[in-house]
Amino acid sequence: MILVTGATGHFGRVAIESLLKKGVSPGDITALARSAEKAAAIKDKGIKIVYGDYDHYESLVAAFQGIDQLLFVSSNDIGRRVEQQENVIKASQAADVNHIIYTSFERKNETVASPIAAVAEAHLATEKWLKETGLSYTILRNNIYMDFIPVFIGDKVLESGAVYLPAGEGRAGFALRSEMAEAAANILVSDGHGGKAYYFSNTETYSYADVAAVISEITGKEIVYISPSAGEYKKTLLDAGVPEVYVGMFASFALAHAAGEFDASGNDLERLLGRRPVSLREYLQTVYEPAK
Ligand SMILES: NC(=O)c1ccc[n+]([C@@H]2O[C@H](COP(=O)([O-])OP(=O)(O)OC[C@H]3O[C@@H](n4cnc5c(N)ncnc54)[C@H](OP(=O)(O)O)[C@@H]3O)[C@@H](O)[C@H]2O)c1
Repeated sequence: MILVTGATGHFGRVAIESLLKKGVSPGDITALARSAEKAAAIKDKGIKIVYGDYDHYESLVAAFQGIDQLLFVSSNDIGRRVEQQENVIKASQAADVNHIIYTSFERKNETVASPIAAVAEAHLATEKWLKETGLSYTILRNNIYMDFIPVFIGDKVLESGAVYLPAGEGRAGFALRSEMAEAAANILVSDGHGGKAYYFSNTETYSYADVAAVISEITGKEIVYISPSAGEYKKTLLDAGVPEVYVGMFASFALAHAAGEFDASGNDLERLLGRRPVSLREYLQTVYEPAK
């Protein structure tokens, strides 16, 4: 039996859809959810829903009984994630899950000096706990979701003619979230992944200057790339009324990008997907290509 956590979220939902497309019987899949209402569409596919909350250890121990393979989608609650994910790992051990696949994160700097230390903390701790369990595991070092580029650069790019982000000349192996989830499903249905860490990055890396150039080509409008100082960037966004919590998060990711934290490319995702991942240009076309 396969159990997918985060099943009501983007990554988990695609992982489940991919398992079904690969011919896994709905009866061999369990979805962990904390809201029956949110899980209704999954239940309609004939998949068993079990209640589980990362905050409630006992609920996880109960949910993981009889589970052979667990796709553990990391929590999105950055403030509570360390404790939550410790619960998941301990519960997996208590329930004697055979194999855990964990959606971790690409990074280079593992110290508190990293611009995304707050994000990295739970991933680093979870990877350590996973290794200590003695259970079989696979770590997915997910690069930045390509889907987040429009979020990071904002919706005024065409209007302002600028991609404005303090990301310097840094590069990232952006890849689509759905392709990472599909590759995770491929791991669930094949053998030989125990003790491995895969770099879920694109086959090439991209800078925000590339992002601006590609949007220019697609739209025919001149889009320049401006990389201000972090202070100037934050002030500009705050003055524009962007909530402080988002400004801090966007700035941290841009600075991590500038520092090369996500500068990873390779063939792991391509190999596990069985095809070349969607490129930056192909993705940005889906977002910015003018309607014909
Ligand atoms: N690589 C990247 O660029 C990147 C970017 C963003 C996030 N991430 C990480 O990747 C993960 C998956 O991405 P995503 O886009 O699928 O995120 P998402 O759509 O926000 O989904 C998160 C899932 O986690 C579940 N969850 C949250 N708190 C929980 C709890 N206390 N107990 C049980 N389940 C809980 C959510 O359940 P509900 O539906 O009940 O809320 C949801 O199903 C994120 O959670 C985050 O850790 C990576």
